Amino acid sequence: MSDLTYLESYLHQVDAAPDLTALEVLRVAVLGKQGVLTAELKKLGQMTAEERVVIGPLVHQYRAELTSAIATRKAALDAAALDARLAGERLDMTLPVDAPLAGTIHPVSQVMDELAEIFADLGFAVATGPEIEDDWHNFTALNIPESHPARAMHDTFYFEPQARTARDGQGPSSDGELGSPPAGLGSSPRMLLRTHTSPVQIRTMLAQKPPIRIIAPGRTYRSDSDATHTPMFHQVEGLVIDKGITLGHLKWTLETFLKAFFERDDIVLRLRPSYFPFTEPSAEVDVGYTLEKGKRVIGGSGGGWMEVLGSGMVHPRVIAACGLDPDEWQGFAFGCGIDRLAMLKYGMDDLRAFFDGDIRWLKHYGFSALDVPTLSGGVGA
Ligand code: DAH
Repeated sequence: MSDLTYLESYLHQVDAAPDLTALEVLRVAVLGKQGVLTAELKKLGQMTAEERVVIGPLVHQYRAELTSAIATRKAALDAAALDARLAGERLDMTLPVDAPLAGTIHPVSQVMDELAEIFADLGFAVATGPEIEDDWHNFTALNIPESHPARAMHDTFYFEPQARTARDGQGPSSDGELGSPPAGLGSSPRMLLRTHTSPVQIRTMLAQKPPIRIIAPGRTYRSDSDATHTPMFHQVEGLVIDKGITLGHLKWTLETFLKAFFERDDIVLRLRPSYFPFTEPSAEVDVGYTLEKGKRVIGGSGGGWMEVLGSGMVHPRVIAACGLDPDEWQGFAFGCGIDRLAMLKYGMDDLRAFFDGDIRWLKHYGFSALDVPTLSGGVGA
């Protein structure tokens, strides 16, 4: 009868294989066509039935053990090879970049960083909200009920209505209240792409107690497209809720902000009475410009006025819709187009180029990634 114990030595050799090449040589020597184990398997055919009953299971057991030992050793060697490669290819991401950068920071991102920096200095936090918003936060709670003409003016992108439940059908009740936020479970409110950043006012007032001081920069959407409008654009919202807040606080804040943003002390503001459903009174804010070599430069007012933002005292109904007592809490709010601010400050004249993704435009108007705006270093970069 054949003695199979010599196969033990192959098991030891497999366990000790120093590298993947040595292991592969062993695998072929054992399991390959000319391998020792393959030869043992062939021998089974020539054995008597009695011999085969004894030797057969032994050969198969060695085959299983050797196959599994080879797989185990291969996994260990593979892992060690990967570890060695990872260690060899280690890259310190904190080192300064020494190759020329292909991309740049988009002026919109830069302006958003500048806004955050300026308003942080005034004690404002940055708040965010979803771009896919519901009807109640985008309109109803902002005192724009279903029938309000302002809804038509917003050129809203609506989503296909989902299956409605009874409570979604609830409009504002007849006593003039603005309803309550859509309940999470079981309800499917009408969804839309937010048409402005104002719903972040609502979300902030519902989520935190006053006093509140936030700005909310972000993307907004309207079905509108021409030289000065793109379907996606950027706004920044501002909201202050506290006791005893007046229009004076609003004007001072905007003046301080615009002086810091345009980095000039000769910024002149003009507040024009206006109408927004969510503020009362409401004011549109113009900033004066002068003409230098035929170009409009923000500062002074010799050249004329440019509208830069909408603002006002938060409407008591909006404060009440968020569960606060308007007799106790007042505030102001403002909303401003970021793309326009960037154009005024950095001199681009075509809004559409902002969203073309043209690397040449970015090279010209973009900012270095290391150019972080700071108040001390100048937010203008
Ligand atoms: N949400 C307005 C818009 O998109 C802008 C605006 C105006 C926001 C006045 C305000 C505000 O917070 O007080 O046209």
